[in-house]
Parts: sequence; C-alpha cells; structure tokens
Amino acid sequence: MITRIVKPTPDNIQLAAELLQNHEVVGMPTETVYGLAGGIFQEKALSKIFSTKERPTFDPLIVHVSWDLNKEKDFLKKLSDLQLINLSLLSTEDQTMATRLMQAYWPGPLTLIFPKSPLVPDLATSGLSTVAIRMPQHPVAQALIQAVGTPLAAPSANQFGRISPTTAEAVGRELGGRIELILDGGPCSVGVESTVLSLAGGSWTLLRPGGIPAAEIEQVLGRPLTKKSPSANLTSPGMLESHYAPRKKLYLLPGPLHLMSEEEKKSFYLSYKHLLRPSAILGLLICEGDPGEAEEMFSQFTHSKILAKSLSLHGDLQEAAKNLFAEMRSLDESAAEVIFAVPCAGPKGLGLAIADRLKRASSLL
Ligand code: TXA
Ligand code: MG
Repeated sequence: MITRIVKPTPDNIQLAAELLQNHEVVGMPTETVYGLAGGIFQEKALSKIFSTKERPTFDPLIVHVSWDLNKEKDFLKKLSDLQLINLSLLSTEDQTMATRLMQAYWPGPLTLIFPKSPLVPDLATSGLSTVAIRMPQHPVAQALIQAVGTPLAAPSANQFGRISPTTAEAVGRELGGRIELILDGGPCSVGVESTVLSLAGGSWTLLRPGGIPAAEIEQVLGRPLTKKSPSANLTSPGMLESHYAPRKKLYLLPGPLHLMSEEEKKSFYLSYKHLLRPSAILGLLICEGDPGEAEEMFSQFTHSKILAKSLSLHGDLQEAAKNLFAEMRSLDESAAEVIFAVPCAGPKGLGLAIADRLKRASSLL
C-alpha cells in the first residue's frame, strides 16, 4: 500500500471522511499528537487501528468528538445523545464538575473518562465499563469528525510503544505502507498527549499528565486530584511503564549538567564506561539551555563526541513540550549510538508531562 500525505483541503478532508465511512483508518492531525482515526461504532475500523499499530487490545482508545458549540452548549447531553456515555451512572456532583472542566478546556488537550453507553464497542474500551473522550482543538480534526458525522476513535499514530508523531512526516515514518492517507495539519502545537482524568468511582484521578497541567485542573475543580498509583495500571491499562520510546537506548541523567558535582560525574563515567570513548557519538537531549554549551560540558567528562538537542533555549515549558517528540525522534534517527536526557527542573506546568514521557522512554542501565 502506498501512503499519501495530503494537504487538508476541503476535497481531501472529504476524501478522508469517505475512507472513514468505508471502515478505513486515516492519519489525523490534532493539537497534541497525530492520531490514527477510525469510526467509533465500526468494529472493523477499530480492529484495523489495533492491527495497524500492533497495539495490544488491552489498551483502550480515546474517542474524539466535535460539534458546533453554538448549537449545542450542554456537553453531557450531547455526549449522551451521541450514544457515548451513560449519564445515569454519573452523580450530580460529578456531572457539575465534568461540565465545569469541559467548559474550561474543550476543545483542547483534556480527556475525561465517563461511564460508557452499552453502544460503545468493547474493543474501543478494552472491555472496561468506562470510555475516554476528548474534543480536539485542531481545526482539521474538527472538520474531519464533523464531515464523517460520528465520533472517531484515535490513539497516537505510532507503532505501539514508540515515539508519538507530531508531524505528518513522522506518521509516515511510523505507519507508511500500512495506511492509505495522512492529512497534513502541520506540526502539533502542544506536542504531548492530552491529560487523562478519571471521574469513575467518585474520585478524581489523574491517569496521565499531559497538555493541561494538573495544577490548573485542580484550580478549576477547587480540590486536589488523586494521583495515579502504580496499581492503577489495572484501571488504565494503557499506562504501561515503557512507552514513547526511541529505538536507541535512552538513559536519564540525574539532573542538569551544570549542577552535577565532580563526584556525580565520576560515578556517571564509571556506570556508563562501556558506552563512552573518543570515537563514540552520544545524543544528548536537554530540556533547556544552549546545546553548544551542553555538548562542551558533557564531552568533558564523557570523553566522547556529543550531539545535543535543546527543547527550549530559554526554558519555556510549552516550547519544550512542543519539541519533545520531534527532537527525541531526530536523535533516534541521527548518528548517535545512544541517547542521554536531562530531565526538566521541577514538575511545574507541562514539566510533569515531559518528565513522565522521558521516564517512560528511558531504559534502565
Ligand atoms: O492527545 C491524545 O490523547 C492523543 C491524540 C491522538 O488525541 N491520543 C492518545 O491516545 O494519546 P493513546 O491511545 O496513545 O492513549 C490513550 C490512553 C490509553 O493508553 C489509556 O491509558 C487511556 O488513554 N484510556 C483510554 N480509555 C480509558 C479508560 N476507559 N479508562 C482509563 N484509561 C483509558
Ligand atoms: Mg500513544
């Protein structure tokens, strides 16, 4: 199969909508990462999503919705009319809180987990009694969902476990030859996946840090979120420890290079000695600062050649999130033999989502 990457003209959006109506899957831009979209009520499309990504079926999908908010302002009513959620299983208080969050963040990178309607196929939810839903902000995603006329299930458009794509070309490199069409909506503006929040079971739990910082959500809710415990993997089966990973090994450094003591540098050298030598090229991903300076500092105690990429020169976390997967991918495709990454300073704002993705991308020594 030849994969076509096309501009999102009205004709091409119509073409993509027709493919989707015919139970095919299509590469779709969103503001977070590119998705691999398929009709939510079409079992054949859903199973194609899993087989195309080589994704295990115990990892549930997010449903993407879009409608004219001037025509229907009541989010819960519309989700119920779309046969996605079972409103009767949601307490009045949770309905109020969910509405408040949707009013604040939809369209945008916030996914909410609701009690599901029996009409949502089990394949989409991995047999769970809940369904994950978000309203994307990207105009091409909105136009596509509205042209198809039904919500679309869409996981990130990468092979299972690999780096999420933030450009149409990256989708091509991940799934080229496996899908017919990718709509090119330009580079994703957010760059990390949506924040996933569960309101099942009466507690508000952060299942995945993402594009909307948890602290902002806590302000809107007026109460703290429960943070996911490791055993919560059972309620959010997709949150596997290893994910978002490059093909090369990626190791996390303890902290910013300029803050490493002589002792720490020595111990680092001893731990990674087998990878270090003057002819070796080491990839280095830094959250902030000048890559040239970082190359010099890192080569001083690794005695190797360094190829550094900086996510943001001035430590702007939004810019860092936007660049994270693209820079991880560029190091993965570079001459570097191995990648080292410096985590962001402090889990503030989008720093938590970036730290989460780096940790899941990393290998243990
Ligand atoms: O930003 C995003 O959310 C992107 C774009 C394409 O919208 N999508 C995305 O999908 O990241 P995916 O499949 O890579 O991650 C979805 C995650 C799953 O791994 C799972 O942990 C969680 O959402 N999830 C889905 N349904 C769930 C459910 N019923 N209960 C708990 N977690 C759920
Ligand atoms: Mg994913």
